Amino acid sequence: MPTLTINGKQVTVPAGTPIIRAAAQAGVNIPHFCYHPTLSTPGNCRMCLVEASDARGLAASCYHKCTEGAVVNTETARVKAARQAVLEFILVNHPVDCPICDQAGECKLQDYYMTHDHKPSRVSTTKNSKSKAKPIGPHVVFDGERCILCTRCIRFCDEITGTSELTTEQRGDHTEITTFPGRELDNAYSMCVTDLCPVGALTTRDFRFKTRVWMLASTDSLCTGCSRGCNIHMEHHQGEVKRYRPRLNPEVNEYWMCDEGRLSYQHHNLGRTTAIRLRDQREVQWPRAARQTAEALTAAVAKANGQVAMLTSPQLSCESLLAAREFAATVLGNATVYVGGNPSGGNDAFLITSDKNPNRAGVVQVFGPAILANTAYKLLEEMEQGRVQALYLMRGELPFDAAGRARFSAALSRVALVVYQGPHGLDLEERAHIFLPSATHAEQDGTYVNETGYAQAAYAAVPAMGQALADWDVLSRIARAAEMPLSFDSFDALHATLAATIAAE
Ligand code: SF4
Ligand code: SF4
Ligand code: FES
Repeated sequence: MPTLTINGKQVTVPAGTPIIRAAAQAGVNIPHFCYHPTLSTPGNCRMCLVEASDARGLAASCYHKCTEGAVVNTETARVKAARQAVLEFILVNHPVDCPICDQAGECKLQDYYMTHDHKPSRVSTTKNSKSKAKPIGPHVVFDGERCILCTRCIRFCDEITGTSELTTEQRGDHTEITTFPGRELDNAYSMCVTDLCPVGALTTRDFRFKTRVWMLASTDSLCTGCSRGCNIHMEHHQGEVKRYRPRLNPEVNEYWMCDEGRLSYQHHNLGRTTAIRLRDQREVQWPRAARQTAEALTAAVAKANGQVAMLTSPQLSCESLLAAREFAATVLGNATVYVGGNPSGGNDAFLITSDKNPNRAGVVQVFGPAILANTAYKLLEEMEQGRVQALYLMRGELPFDAAGRARFSAALSRVALVVYQGPHGLDLEERAHIFLPSATHAEQDGTYVNETGYAQAAYAAVPAMGQALADWDVLSRIARAAEMPLSFDSFDALHATLAATIAAE
């Protein structure tokens, strides 16, 4: 455990720690391009040079290891001059096309130029031409002229995904990143290279030229594409979710997320059904919708002779599930609760799990493990045999193939009253007698428990679309109209109940 001094601050670190990490521990930020904590250290950009008492020249702080008693200075005139020289060297062939570069605003080269160089170029030679806007895979576009050859992208494909699609070709200042012959950058995590690329050389085909990044607001959230629950920055502009970017969580997803999950932000914007429909009435406002739904449910439950069911979903947050539990017990007269959700899919040995729902563990926490026996298949059989007279559907994702879905849809016609609450109409909206639009997880706060038992919060990022409301709010309004108010009147109260309930059970 060497103890060293960095910019006058003493810090003790495990043996073998590079100076750049010790500096971060001491609150000192050393500029760098090629270094990344999860990747090997080629030491090729030279941006991280520092003065160290145990080095002969300037030391590359990304691979120079800490030694006992070393004295490190990161802001001397010599270090600053070296940084300026590195930036000037990188910019010799760089097009400096920041105004039309999609990385502008989140580019390390741009930021470091402003903080460490900020002087006109002394070079007036013709710059090298390289690939421009070249698709190198289904999701990623490459701009060779902006590339600073840090090799983070190559190392990611070699060391994290193990797919090794990328390499360099040519020599000297003609060196360029490329895919191996006959290959594309096409792996399940390919867009992570765009997060790693410190400049605008790698950008996603999906987000290119959609929104300038300084217009985006960011909210801490989760991907709901599978039960891993990758932590994300949910980035949005003018009420619309524009992209997901992975958010560091060493316990869950480190710095990464899969491409499919990254693109699942589109569900917030596409295919939404955001207007209330009461049988054939449209343009209905919430007070009337809540009242008429409460009346219809009360009448149906009274006639149903106990044949009342509610379908919940592992797509819902724990708070929504807790509200559903209370609603099923009161307004629905102790309805039998079933669990739906997306069908299982592929998995891998890295992040992607086969359960394509974010909160099955939360369903178990809220309802108990026995709930898992009440599958959507079981509900389907009950419906087909005419043993469900009233059905409340929360969310429309079902674990069936197309034939099973068609069977479910047909079986709805045997149910006297179907109320469907969800953010997307899917194929169920027209089959339901009442459709009530609800918010996506981008539009409401909630807690989700991932496959390994981590309870994680996702926060509302954008206002709910159209007439959609948070799930708990929909249930609460109907319960009040039915004169059986639920035990909470705000999300915070519901969240507090959840914390107490789960702690007590
Ligand atoms: S494309 Fe980006 S990540 Fe890859 S070497 Fe060039 S600058 Fe580095
Ligand atoms: S691994 Fe799962 S939770 Fe993570 S980004 Fe992919 S789909 Fe989303
Ligand atoms: S970050 Fe140290 S040489 Fe690139």
